[in-house]
Amino acid sequence: MEADEKLILALPKGRILKEVMPLVRAIGVEPEAAFDDDGSRKLRFSTNVPEIDIIRVRSFDVATFVAFGVAHMGVAGSDVLMEFDYAEVYAPLDLGIGLCRMSVAEPAALSAKDDPATWSHVRVATKYPSITGRHFANRGVQAECIRLSGAIELAPALGLCERIVDLVSSGDTLRANNLSEVETIAEISSRLAINRTAWKTRPTEIGTWLHRFREVLDGDTA
Ligand code: PRP
Repeated sequence: MEADEKLILALPKGRILKEVMPLVRAIGVEPEAAFDDDGSRKLRFSTNVPEIDIIRVRSFDVATFVAFGVAHMGVAGSDVLMEFDYAEVYAPLDLGIGLCRMSVAEPAALSAKDDPATWSHVRVATKYPSITGRHFANRGVQAECIRLSGAIELAPALGLCERIVDLVSSGDTLRANNLSEVETIAEISSRLAINRTAWKTRPTEIGTWLHRFREVLDGDTA
C-alpha cells in the first residue's frame, strides 16, 4: 500500500494515551514496537493493519491534524473540540474515556465570601480562551482571558488573576494550590473525531473502523 493511501489515526500523547490504547488494541490495531519505546523519537508508526498508521501528537493538535484532513481519524477530548469548533471535524462517538470536567476555580479564601452571580468582569487564566469567553458572554460577564499552556493553577497564587478555567479530574491539583471550584462549564470526555471530507471520500474504510469502535464500546467484542 502506498503511504499516501494509508488511513492516519491521530492519538494524543500524555496521560490520556494509557486510556486510549486498550481501545485501539481492542479494535485490532497494534502499533509497531517503537510506539512503546520511550527512547524512540518516531512520531509516525506503522501498525499490524497495513492500511493504518498512527501519529502521536499533543492533544490540542489532534483536532488540528484531523480538521486539515492530514489525519483521517483521531481521538480528541471534547474540551479541545469545543475550543476549536472546527466545521471539518465530525465527532460521532463518545469513547467514554478521559472523563473530567471543565470548571471555573478561584482561591478557596475568596470563594468563601464570593458570589459568582455578582460578577460583571473577570480576569481568567486558561488554555481555553474561546470556551471561557463564550461561557462568560452567555452569563453577561466580560472575560479577559490570559492564555497559558499548562500549570494554570499557579496563576492565582502568583497574582496573575484570581480565576482560572481548567480541567478538573480528582480535584487534587486544585486542592494542592488552595483553589475551589465555583462553576462547572462542561462535562468532558474523549471522542472519536473524523475528517468530514475523508468520511465522504472513503466511507467504507472509515465506516468499518467507526463500527469496530462502536462494537468494542457496546461490549460486542473483547
Ligand atoms: C490537567 C489539568 C489540571 C489537572 C487536573 O493537567 O489541566 O491541571 O490535570 O487533574 P486533577 O483534578 O486530577 O488534579 P495535566 O496534568 O494534564 O497537565 P497540564 O498542567 O500541562 O495541563
